[in-house]
Amino acid sequence: MATTTNSIIRDPSLAPEGKLKIDWAQAHMPVLNRIREEFQREQPFKGLKVAISLHLEAKTAYLAKVVQAGGAEVAITGSNPLSTQDDICAALAADGITVFAKYNPTAQEYRDLLIKTLETKPDLIIDDGGDLVTILHTERQDLLSTIRGGAEETTTGILRLKAMERDGTLKFPMVAVNDAYCKHLFDNRYGTGQSVWDGINRTTNLVVAGKTVVVNGYGWCGKGVAMRAKGLGANVVVTEVDAIKAVEAYMDGFTVLPMAEAAKVGDFFVTVTGNKDVIRGCHIENMKDGAILSNAGHFDVEVNLVELAALAVSKRTVRRNIEEYVLKDGRRIYVLAEGRLVNLAAGDGHPAEIMDMTFALQALSLRYVNENYQSIGAKVVNVPYEIDEQVARTKLAAMGISIDTLSEEQKAYLQSWATH
Ligand code: NAI
Repeated sequence: MATTTNSIIRDPSLAPEGKLKIDWAQAHMPVLNRIREEFQREQPFKGLKVAISLHLEAKTAYLAKVVQAGGAEVAITGSNPLSTQDDICAALAADGITVFAKYNPTAQEYRDLLIKTLETKPDLIIDDGGDLVTILHTERQDLLSTIRGGAEETTTGILRLKAMERDGTLKFPMVAVNDAYCKHLFDNRYGTGQSVWDGINRTTNLVVAGKTVVVNGYGWCGKGVAMRAKGLGANVVVTEVDAIKAVEAYMDGFTVLPMAEAAKVGDFFVTVTGNKDVIRGCHIENMKDGAILSNAGHFDVEVNLVELAALAVSKRTVRRNIEEYVLKDGRRIYVLAEGRLVNLAAGDGHPAEIMDMTFALQALSLRYVNENYQSIGAKVVNVPYEIDEQVARTKLAAMGISIDTLSEEQKAYLQSWATH
C-alpha cells in the first residue's frame, strides 16, 4: 500500500492504465460531460469538501472529477472491498483527488478507509449502500457537524436511510438517487441485466443457452437479469416473496417457483433481493452437482456462505473469482466472487452509457441538496422531477433522438373532464 499526498492506495505507478480507462468511460458519458462544463463555469461546490463512497471504477472516477471540476475538494473510497480497481485509484490520486481505497482490503482496513474519508470533514457526501451515513450516525458522530447533506445511490442504502428517518435518527437530508426514474429504470434494470451476465460469463467462461437460470427477486434488477438470461437462451425461473412481482414474472413468460423447488433445477443462481439468507443450507442440500451461485444484491448476505461451508468437506479456488465447495456426497457447488456483487467484484460494473445517467443524477442531486439542505431538513427526499427530466432530455439529445411535444390543444384536452 502506498501513499500519494494524503491518499492511501496500492500502487501509484498504475496511474497511466487507470487514466486510459477513465478516458474511455468519459468518452461515453455525454450527459456528465455537459454537467462538467456547467460545473466548471458555475463552481457550485467552490470551497466545499465532498466525500464519496462508490464502487471505485472508471465511471465513478469520472463522477469524482466532475464534482472536483465544480470546485470541490474530493475524497473518495470504495463501497465494496472487491469492486475497487487499483489503477483507477492511482489515476485519481495523480489528479489531485484524495483516495482511500485498494482492491481486497481486510474487513478492518475497509472500514478504516471509510472512516479516513469521513475524517476529511466533508460538507457533502455521496454514499452507496449507506456505510458512510451509518458510521456518521454511530461510532463517529463527532464528524457530523460539518455535513450539510448528501445523495444515496442504491436500493439497499435507501432502505437503511428510511429506517433511520422513521425512528428519528437521521441527522441530515439525503437524496434518494436510486428512486429517480433515470436511475432504477435504466441502471438497475438494463445496467444490472447486462453487467451481471458480463461478470458471470467472463468469470466462468461457460455457456448459458439451454441451462436453467434461477433469478431470486424480480425487482428492478431482477427483471433485467432475467430478461438478459432469456436473451442468452436460458430457461429462466424466478423466485419471489411479493405476489404482484410474481404475477409480473409469470406474465413476462418466466416460470415462478418457491426456492425449495427452484433449488433442485438451477444451473446458475443469481440473488438480487437486497435481503439476507435467500439461498441457505436447506436449498443447497438439494442442488445439482456443478450449480453456480452468484449474487448481485448490494451486500454479501444473500447466499449464506456459513451454511454452505458447514455442508462442505472441502473448499478451494478453481479459477479467479470461483470457489468450489465439495459436499459430503461429492456434489460440487461453485460460488462466484465470494457472494459479493458479481457484476462489480468480477466485472467492470454497468456500461458507461448507463452510468452516465445515474451519475448525472448524482452530480445534480448533490448540487440540489447543497442549495436546499436547510429547507429540506433531516429527511430522505426524492430527486426533483425536473432533474430527472433534464437528464432524460440531455440523454436523448446526446443520442440524436427527438420526440414530439404536446400542442396547446392537446394540453387542454388532457386537463379537461367535461368534453371528450
Ligand atoms: P427491488 O426492491 O426493486 O427488488 C427486490 C425484490 O426482491 C423485490 O421484488 C422483493 O419482493 C424481492 N425479495 C425480497 N426478499 C426475497 C426473497 N427472500 N426471495 C425472493 N425475492 C425476494 O430492489 P432492486 O432495485 O432490484 O435492488 C435489489 C438489490 O440489488 C439491492 O440490494 C440493491 O441495492 C442492489 N443493486 C445492485 C446493483 C448492481 O450493480 N449489482 C445495481 C442496483 C441495485
